[in-house]
Amino acid sequence: MKRLLFTLVFVLIDILSVEFAFANIDEQNVNPEINRHYQGAEFENWVGVFERAGREVFDQRHAVVQALQLQPGMDIADIGAGTGFYSLLFAKAVGGTGNVFAVDITEDFIFNINRRAREQNLKNIHGVLNHQKDTLLAPGSIDLAFVCATYHHFEYPQTMLASIRRAVRPGGKLVIIDFRKQANVSSEWVMTHVRSDKQTVIKEIEQAGFQFESESNLLKENYFLWFVKGNDTQP
Ligand SMILES: C[S@@+](CC[C@H](N)C(=O)[O-])C[C@H]1O[C@@H](n2cnc3c(N)ncnc32)[C@H](O)[C@@H]1O
Repeated sequence: MKRLLFTLVFVLIDILSVEFAFANIDEQNVNPEINRHYQGAEFENWVGVFERAGREVFDQRHAVVQALQLQPGMDIADIGAGTGFYSLLFAKAVGGTGNVFAVDITEDFIFNINRRAREQNLKNIHGVLNHQKDTLLAPGSIDLAFVCATYHHFEYPQTMLASIRRAVRPGGKLVIIDFRKQANVSSEWVMTHVRSDKQTVIKEIEQAGFQFESESNLLKENYFLWFVKGNDTQP
């Protein structure tokens, strides 16, 4: 009996300390300059940057959406939605019974994603203007968090990951697509612009309570990683 009580207390302390660790992240900004370009950015100036032929994640957008195996009725967040081309495709894939939360820190991007959704009569897209430390998504509101070319823009990665984790339902997924950073392979721009390589990103995301599941080998310049939300007792 004494032993059982001791085990129970130990498990409780463990659970509480993990919850405490997830809830109280006092993180330093890892890259204060990285989003300078997006301060006051206008949609019109960026649509041709994000939606241009030759940009791998734009060229391969239909293959990426197919690889995600979206089902009607799913709730998805496109975190760092940019000009919203993925959000629009997701909205068609999840249909009227699903929802797409297009989350971005840039007001004009959200304004125009909402406009595009109205023009295409997609009522299941919801623009969310967030900030660097929070997705502003409701807890347990999504089945999948999709983060394309945006992880390296998180100024507070652990804080954002904790916020994403809260929003993902038990058993839900996190997909990260981002630039491969490899010396002597990646461009000079990638080497200086992108903070971390794939292994570091996997480590950071596992630290935040997700488990690495698999990698889709669809893209060349970018990796495409799948994580599942770990349970709450997992560090
Ligand atoms: C390189 S763009 C990628 C946009 C889009 N995912 C794409 O692939 O075209 C990065 C985007 O992330 C947004 N962003 C940066 N930090 C963010 C954060 N903490 N939460 C949400 N969006 C963020 C920027 O405003 C920008 O739209």
